[in-house]
Amino acid sequence: MYEQINDCGGHFCTTPAICPHHLSVDPTINHNGTDACQTGWSVNIEKYRYMNENLDPTADRLTKEERILEQTLRPGSFSSFTGQFKVVENLKVFVGAALKRNEALDHVLLHGPPGLGKTTLAYIIANEMGVGIKVTSGPVLDKPGDLAGLLTNMQDRDVLFIDEIHRLSPVVEEYLYSAMEDFRIDIMIETGPNARSVQLSLHPFTLIGATTRSGLLTSPLRARFGINARLNYYDAKLLHLIIKRSAGILKVRISDEAAHEISRRSRGTPRIANALLRRVRDFAQIKGSGDIDLDIALYGLSALNVDQYGLDEMDNKILSAIIDKFRGGPVGLTNVATSVGEDPGTIEEVYEPYLIQEGYIMRTPRGREATEIAYKHLGKLKSPGQNTLFD
Ligand SMILES: Nc1ncnc2c1ncn2[C@@H]1O[C@H](COP(=O)(O)OP(=O)(O)O)[C@@H](O)[C@H]1O
Ligand SMILES: [Mg+2]
Repeated sequence: MYEQINDCGGHFCTTPAICPHHLSVDPTINHNGTDACQTGWSVNIEKYRYMNENLDPTADRLTKEERILEQTLRPGSFSSFTGQFKVVENLKVFVGAALKRNEALDHVLLHGPPGLGKTTLAYIIANEMGVGIKVTSGPVLDKPGDLAGLLTNMQDRDVLFIDEIHRLSPVVEEYLYSAMEDFRIDIMIETGPNARSVQLSLHPFTLIGATTRSGLLTSPLRARFGINARLNYYDAKLLHLIIKRSAGILKVRISDEAAHEISRRSRGTPRIANALLRRVRDFAQIKGSGDIDLDIALYGLSALNVDQYGLDEMDNKILSAIIDKFRGGPVGLTNVATSVGEDPGTIEEVYEPYLIQEGYIMRTPRGREATEIAYKHLGKLKSPGQNTLFD
């Protein structure tokens, strides 16, 4: 339900036709003239009113054209994939070994926050293995029959990519077990009194699962993946390289200073870096010479309201909550989550890793603590008695 609503772009709904529930261009006014639709839209609108859509790391709001553009910016081989060196090195070894043995690659679980390259890597693996790929996602597969249809159509050693695998229904998940383990599935044939189940053998295949919330995976499912890789946020240097590469593909000239400025505001996320590059390119074409230099990058980024440090609204809400409501911490995850109205698991797996990497918060045995950098970032002073005063 929420995914469908996200498609209409939240705060700036320029494509109201996609959202059947509100017919006006201004999403705060809907067809029944109240401030909120009857469909759950009201629950979500808060989030989108405050979130800077230029820093949204998910692909939810991309238009069709942007999705196509994203495809063209996607690296197609290990050698054009920047960063995540350890993960890539290991995958190269496993792919090389599987090729040598003429076998399907072991099942792969890719996890990490949105926009870091999970889908990209799934395509690269299929490409490097020289096999086909079928793509689906957890919420789409609602019956075992859907999965059976996909599996029986797979060729030898093909890749089945299941995005958002933590959202598989329990029956589909259970059905997947024997397919993953023994390359066999049971299917029901005929109906009524003649109904019976027969076992079908499948071609050996590789399941690649991607998830932003590995904590929600059941242990039997997790145990069936032979290869488990976590993607981490990229540092500004790597994002700089990615921006330069994307600019080359988009045929726009960009100075090093401008690429650096965009890279440090991209929240460690290639998808955001690419999106900001495309937006800044628009400013360069309309307001400048077409080339992206530091001035036009600064102008564009400030027009887009992008935080100097690349933090998004939820990051800032988390930091403010720890500092204002919990005197800087230490505070437990559940308390932070309740006060910002987000699910604790999402905070722990999606938001917190970046805030920790950039040194805004610390995880201590007693809970989360805001650091000096967080206070500075929000322009706040520590009051006496707050945890790190005498550090
Ligand atoms: N390591 C990388 N090098 C270059 N571009 C990348 C890299 N990782 C991701 N991207 C870019 O970021 C975009 C989002 O990546 P994607 O694989 O869809 O992320 P995820 O599936 O983790 O949400 C892609 O269009 C791709 O161009
Ligand atoms: Mg993806």
